[in-house]
Amino acid sequence: MFPDRLVVAVDGTSGSGKSSTCRGVASRLGLRYLDTGAMFRAMTWWMLAQGVDVHDAAAVAARCEEPVIESGTDPTGPTITVDGTDVAAAIRTDEVTGSVSPVSTVPEVRARLLALQRAIIGADVEPAGIVVEGRDIGSVVVPDAPVKLYLTADAAARASRRAAEQGAVDVAATEQLLLSRDQIDSGRATAPLVMADGAVHVDTTGYTLDEVIELVVGMVDRVGT
Ligand code: DC
Repeated sequence: MFPDRLVVAVDGTSGSGKSSTCRGVASRLGLRYLDTGAMFRAMTWWMLAQGVDVHDAAAVAARCEEPVIESGTDPTGPTITVDGTDVAAAIRTDEVTGSVSPVSTVPEVRARLLALQRAIIGADVEPAGIVVEGRDIGSVVVPDAPVKLYLTADAAARASRRAAEQGAVDVAATEQLLLSRDQIDSGRATAPLVMADGAVHVDTTGYTLDEVIELVVGMVDRVGT
């Protein structure tokens, strides 16, 4: 699909260490980085700001072409804006996190963001190569990516990492939220979270971030170049 460039497709469950791993790998290898979850969050943030009922799929579908969502791909400082407003912090609130799964199940939302994602991946820029993270990158967005990874970790490990990141104290509640998001992400009809054909499964439980980055850089070096 993008024969002139290295695409590293990284999918996996919430809190499996995808973002930190992908940013680290992209920085090490001099590649761009795209967080597609941030795009779904930005769409969700905009729907909430507009007062759209995120559980009303028809209402979400009717408005999803409107927001201008732009993602910066520098792995050392990725950016995300909606209609020119920086929403990097706003898309990480509990309100957005709690509403992003229903918005992500709407096929029209997925089609719109798929087009944006492919435009960014295929953009005529330097560096051309890119690490892309999400839920359907290896299965739908770039099914012929030369490197595909599927990252997971034990729910308890994911919850304590996420809670530490967010300064939250309720690890059990964080674990429940992660599991319910996994369930919706894996159970939806359009582009569910699955391990893509040809993906390598990496269970990050018990490994440090540096160890996982090292492992992935080694895989990309062997397979992708
Ligand atoms: O990676 P994240 O937790 O920031 O993603 C937020 C949500 O976006 C996640 O619950 C599911 C959705 N998502 C998706 O459906 N497809 C993607 N490629 C990326 C994220």
